[in-house]
Amino acid sequence: MANTKNLWGGRFTEGANETFAEFNNSFRFDFRLFGADIRASMAHCDGLFHAGVLTRLEAERIKNGLVTLLKRADFDKNYFNDPAEDVHSFIEAKLVQLIGDTGRKLHTGRSRNDQVATAFRLWLREEIGDLGRLARALQVALVDLAEVNRDAVLPGYTHLQRAQPVLWAHWCLAYFEMLARDRERLDEVWRRVNILPLGSAALAGTSYEIDREAVARDLGFDGVTQNSLDAVSDRDFAIEFVGASAIMMMHLSRLAEDLIVYATTEFGFIELGDAISTGSSLMPQKKNPDALELIRGKAARVYGHQTGLLTMMKGLPLAYNKDMQEDKEAVFDTVETVSQTLRVTEIVLRNIGVDTAKTRRAAARGYLNATELADYLVQKGVPFRIAHDTVGRTVLAAIAKGKELDELSLEELRGFSDKIEIDVFEALSLDRTLRSKSQIGGTSPERVNEALAAARRDLELDAH
Ligand code: ARG
Repeated sequence: MANTKNLWGGRFTEGANETFAEFNNSFRFDFRLFGADIRASMAHCDGLFHAGVLTRLEAERIKNGLVTLLKRADFDKNYFNDPAEDVHSFIEAKLVQLIGDTGRKLHTGRSRNDQVATAFRLWLREEIGDLGRLARALQVALVDLAEVNRDAVLPGYTHLQRAQPVLWAHWCLAYFEMLARDRERLDEVWRRVNILPLGSAALAGTSYEIDREAVARDLGFDGVTQNSLDAVSDRDFAIEFVGASAIMMMHLSRLAEDLIVYATTEFGFIELGDAISTGSSLMPQKKNPDALELIRGKAARVYGHQTGLLTMMKGLPLAYNKDMQEDKEAVFDTVETVSQTLRVTEIVLRNIGVDTAKTRRAAARGYLNATELADYLVQKGVPFRIAHDTVGRTVLAAIAKGKELDELSLEELRGFSDKIEIDVFEALSLDRTLRSKSQIGGTSPERVNEALAAARRDLELDAH
């Protein structure tokens, strides 16, 4: 009698140890692949029919059965409560339960090894699409935030020391660029995810005349894998996806860190809305940036998954090994984490207020125009190195007097260089400083306005 309890029947006389079975089972998490595995099974079923393995009637019975399973799962919240080893054995058991022995023909010419790789890719390609759309929504929020604060000026930092003034919009667009690269990376990963491994069977390929390319077309894959050994043991696509996600999370984490700093009393550049803040159970005055801290913190999880996957794969002999079942939770959690983080980041951006008076004041203090003074001297023929040194000494003296450079008198300034004339004050002004950064990629209002318009245009072009 056929063993219906698990998939490997005859060779075994005893059942699995319960604790081991629990350890071995993946259904509690890979049930997520249910829809994808069924779609792949329907295509495989057609492949078997065209190969002459299944009669038309059998193929129809199987496909109708699979559709019924899909509907039941949709309808019945407790559908996945039945115990099963993994989603593949679950579906097969349900199918056999529903249509009888014909259901046992579906697994002809395939193995769970090519089956799982197929379902996983099918599932992931859709998720990547969703994440791309969320990343785009965040880009829209960045552009909106830039436009609301079109004239806002921000001290720019290096080493977290005030460096040169930039437009607030320039800051927003910096993160816009990072997300543009992130979306590109996701698209590239998508292309390598979207290749069909089905037909590789356990490791050697299938002996049935299944037209793999037709199956690929049927499932919307762009091509078929070219080596069966590689196909069943390749998880590059998962690692690449988590890698691209790790980089995106690094970007979101940096954005969070910037905003955490800007929201401190010490900086006071932004105010976090109540909707995205928490209080303290002890200190009544506190308003904490928990949302931002979690965005920063979540990056660590995704890095962990990337390291986990790379480590899991590094010692595996060809071809499939059960270690690879560990890929699922890493990828599932990455998708969930990135998705949540992108959504929350967008909400944060829509719930902050920029104190533009304060950021402007901050940009005007702390010698952010020292480089302008050096450039001014260069224009008057002083070699840059000498100008740099002259301005350094000027700053030192200004610090001692408790004044900004543009608060020194013309005589005081001329004490450092007789090249300095009355037009120096115009050169040192905040607006002039900004305006002068007018090459492509610079922070001049003109350039930033162009960049904003280009960003809007790009967003419209690839509106999903
Ligand atoms: N649940 C397994 C996984 O996720 C499916 C493949 C099992 N294959 C096998 N030969 N044991 O990897």
